[in-house]
Amino acid sequence: MEVIICKDSREASIKAARLVEHQVRSKPRSVLGLATGATPLGLYGELVRMHREDALDFSKVTTFNLDEYLGLPPSDERSYRYFMYSNFFDKVNIPEENINIPDGMAEDVVRHCADYEYRIKRAGGIDIQILGIGVDGHIGFNEPSSSFTSRTRIKTLAPQTIKDNSRFFGGDESKVPEHVITMGIGTVMESRMCVLMAFGESKADAVSACVEGGISIVCPASVLQLHPNAKIIVDEAAAGKLKLADYYKWVYSKKPSWQVDI
Ligand code: F6R
Repeated sequence: MEVIICKDSREASIKAARLVEHQVRSKPRSVLGLATGATPLGLYGELVRMHREDALDFSKVTTFNLDEYLGLPPSDERSYRYFMYSNFFDKVNIPEENINIPDGMAEDVVRHCADYEYRIKRAGGIDIQILGIGVDGHIGFNEPSSSFTSRTRIKTLAPQTIKDNSRFFGGDESKVPEHVITMGIGTVMESRMCVLMAFGESKADAVSACVEGGISIVCPASVLQLHPNAKIIVDEAAAGKLKLADYYKWVYSKKPSWQVDI
């Protein structure tokens, strides 16, 4: 794991965007795994800027989103499909046919999930998977107790996640769908690089459990300790409970110049 502590979420988002930029420029046919939520908004903003001002070309890129609420049609402003188009896809040049988001209205959910896995494989696997983290340590919507070998499937949200996400539903927890489709932890772990971002004090416990806690399904993100190429990009507040914070900063300051400069 490489832990990169930034002074704020803006600096962190720019670093994450540079990783994606490097990936896409060196392999135009890159496959990106994408997340929704508040955390990656700065990353998407920076990628849109790079597309407009620095000619970052997404025309050959394929994307797979992590998750979607069950029962929300694409036209619903709270669906993750809607989120992705309004914050990213409508502003860059990824071909429509290369965009993959779980279908919250799928009639045969089991079959749809198996097909999603098949499509990821057919695309050659995910080069960079962007992740946020829930305060309960979830990645995607793999809540605590999710199997580390799980694949794309239906999940029931934890009450804590329903509470956290009710902000997107006018604060009304009863309006948050209880079921979702999410890539599995096994699916995420097959990505060639995982980039987890976390900002703010409310994420400090989850980040500490993810980076320095035992590897356990109690904190699904802790599985990233087993990933050969995982980067954890956090702001000072989210890093607030890391025991080895000074060491991570030291390592980052000594990073060899031949490594990707972010
Ligand atoms: C969203 C996702 C979730 C979020 C997590 C953090 O696609 O996969 O795991 O990353 O719930 O959400 P925010 O960023 O809103 O704090």
